[in-house]
Amino acid sequence: MKNKFYVTTPLYYVNASPHIGHSYTNIAADTLARFYRNRGYEVYFLTGTDEHGQKIAKVAQEQGLDTLVFADRMVAVFKDLWQKLNISYDDFIRTTEKRHEDTVRWILDFLHKNGDIYQDEYSGWYCVPCESFWTQDQLIEKMCPDCRRSVEHISEFNYFFKLSKYQDWLIDYIKSHPDFIKPQSRYNEVLSFLEGNKLRDLCISRPKERLSWGISIPFSENHVTYVWFDALINYISAVGFSYDDKKFKKFWPADIHLMGKDILRQHAIYWPIILRALGIEPPKMIFAHGWWLTSSKGDKQKMSKSKGNIVNPLDIIKEYGVDTYRYFLLREVPFGLDGTFQEEALKKRFNFDLANDLGNLVYRTLTMAEKYFSGEIPQNIDKSLILANPIMKMMEGLAGRIDKAMLSVDFSSALAEIWLLINAANKYIEETKPWQLSKGKKTKELEEFIFILIEVLKKVACEISPFMPDTASKIEGQIKKDKIKKAPPIFPRIE
Ligand code: MSP
Repeated sequence: MKNKFYVTTPLYYVNASPHIGHSYTNIAADTLARFYRNRGYEVYFLTGTDEHGQKIAKVAQEQGLDTLVFADRMVAVFKDLWQKLNISYDDFIRTTEKRHEDTVRWILDFLHKNGDIYQDEYSGWYCVPCESFWTQDQLIEKMCPDCRRSVEHISEFNYFFKLSKYQDWLIDYIKSHPDFIKPQSRYNEVLSFLEGNKLRDLCISRPKERLSWGISIPFSENHVTYVWFDALINYISAVGFSYDDKKFKKFWPADIHLMGKDILRQHAIYWPIILRALGIEPPKMIFAHGWWLTSSKGDKQKMSKSKGNIVNPLDIIKEYGVDTYRYFLLREVPFGLDGTFQEEALKKRFNFDLANDLGNLVYRTLTMAEKYFSGEIPQNIDKSLILANPIMKMMEGLAGRIDKAMLSVDFSSALAEIWLLINAANKYIEETKPWQLSKGKKTKELEEFIFILIEVLKKVACEISPFMPDTASKIEGQIKKDKIKKAPPIFPRIE
């Protein structure tokens, strides 16, 4: 049986259009999915939309639309962007789908019967944009401690999930699974939070009179479930939990949940505890990446719709192409750290890494193959003679070095490895001086030289394909079995 790889992204709220931040997680997930497919794994790549909760109901109402009609329109916007960015998801789940709603209700019933859900009076503060409850002393200057916006006071009967009961278990679990939360700084953060604070049980319901846009709770006519409790369950409802045992056994546990650091707490605390209460294994890894910030007047801020400082991915890809955008996001900032999005930096990456290094290597190699061998790729090469060539040696170990980087979800290092080869090949051209070989009628050497460079191009195309799928096909399209088919430069310089 093939190895499987199950990768997920957060489900994005449909209250606003996707921006760089959302596209970042999906591009990262897509790159992992393509990488593992290339390596022969059976991949399940899940993304989707989070459609319940107060803030979505509110925006739909403001626009005078039925909430589901509004959500349908937004789903189309998300799917359109994913298609333009070459996001090869295998499944797109919406929290309004039957498979999801039925699974959530099944789980609520199960936890209720087991005594992990109970009813109690709730009184406290609620932040609508974050869909989160806060106590008086958690507020900062009477505002939400996460987003610093105003909160509403609430007092009502609600259902609670016994998070606190599982706190010690979670601490032990995290301690005995050092790779469970990545990167290391986030692992430390979660662990010290758990060791320093007593978890409060999680309020998982909303009275219908205040909010009806949610999944109704099977054991209470008057409540719907809390949007976060509903949304996290997508990771198992998509792969069959409660209705398709075979599929569930095949893909669960997920190999990696990707998300931004803003929603680490829900994924690293609520989610493993919900799973534990259900008797299900936790995901293998939770990886929280950093934020894309925008800088205005030296002040760095998280990009978000409500702050009005977003960069629209569509504008960037129109100007620079999809693969430039994918490359830039994954190369510029080590995965896990924050980065500031600057178009100047992207332009630089384009001109140096893509036009000068990669584009030039492809174009020069094919030009020489045309010039010296009329486009025929030399075939009669004694492979044993070229094995000692440093470029061949470098290629031999490349896949292993990339595997290692990808195992630690380190996209920028994986790309850096590929660029070491690209740059070594460019240097090899300069040092070999093919024009002199040609003048001196050193045909054998010239054949070997072109052969090696074509091997490099094939290798580069293969290894960059998870990151830059279109570019990989463009390169592959120019190298047929024994003949080349040169096209114009793939990354013409921008002035
Ligand atoms: N609906 C919840 C997630 C539920 S998952 C079961 C949610 N949605 S969201 O639309 O707000 O998307 C949050 C995610 O978008 C972040 O975790 C991150 O993956 C991505 N980003 C949104 N803004 C971002 C940046 N400025 N920078 C990087 N990524 C960020 O939270």
